[in-house]
Amino acid sequence: MSKKPRQFHLPTFGLMITSLLFSASFSAESLNAESELLPSGRELAHSYDHGNCLACHSAPTDKNAITRANIAPPFVDMKRRFPSKDELFKQIWDARATYPETIMPPFGAHSILSEPEIRRIIDYLYTL
Ligand code: HEC
Repeated sequence: MSKKPRQFHLPTFGLMITSLLFSASFSAESLNAESELLPSGRELAHSYDHGNCLACHSAPTDKNAITRANIAPPFVDMKRRFPSKDELFKQIWDARATYPETIMPPFGAHSILSEPEIRRIIDYLYTL
């Protein structure tokens, strides 16, 4: 009895590769779609039920920021005052790292905002 050499069935193999490539690109696409579905940084910062930064901070250069908040420093000149987006990220993720007694909610550490949401808020802050 002769042993048949093991062979790849070329069409099947090609189909496997194609479907792998297809599923990889498909999941990347749905990820992009997901991040496009996120509210803008501005919407998050202004929203009452999510970011609600305007409960404590004012944004004097944003004419549509409706708030009389004066509990925390106003959002002004953010790009110059916080040239490092990472530093800004840390402050929003968990303000306790800088001021252990802060009343600012630890938005990231307490899962109030996700990492992509905080990044969007930072993009908005950089416009102020
Ligand atoms: C409950 C009040 C409160 C809320 C809500 C709040 N913060 Fe704050 N935040 C503060 C206080 C108070 C400070 C001053 C420093 C400290 O105590 O941590 C501060 C400081 C900051 C700073 C540093 C500002 C500076 O000029 O030094 C940034 C940036 C900041 N907050 C961003 C945000 C963002 C973005 C949000 C919304 C996602 C937010 N904060 C929501 C209270 C708040």
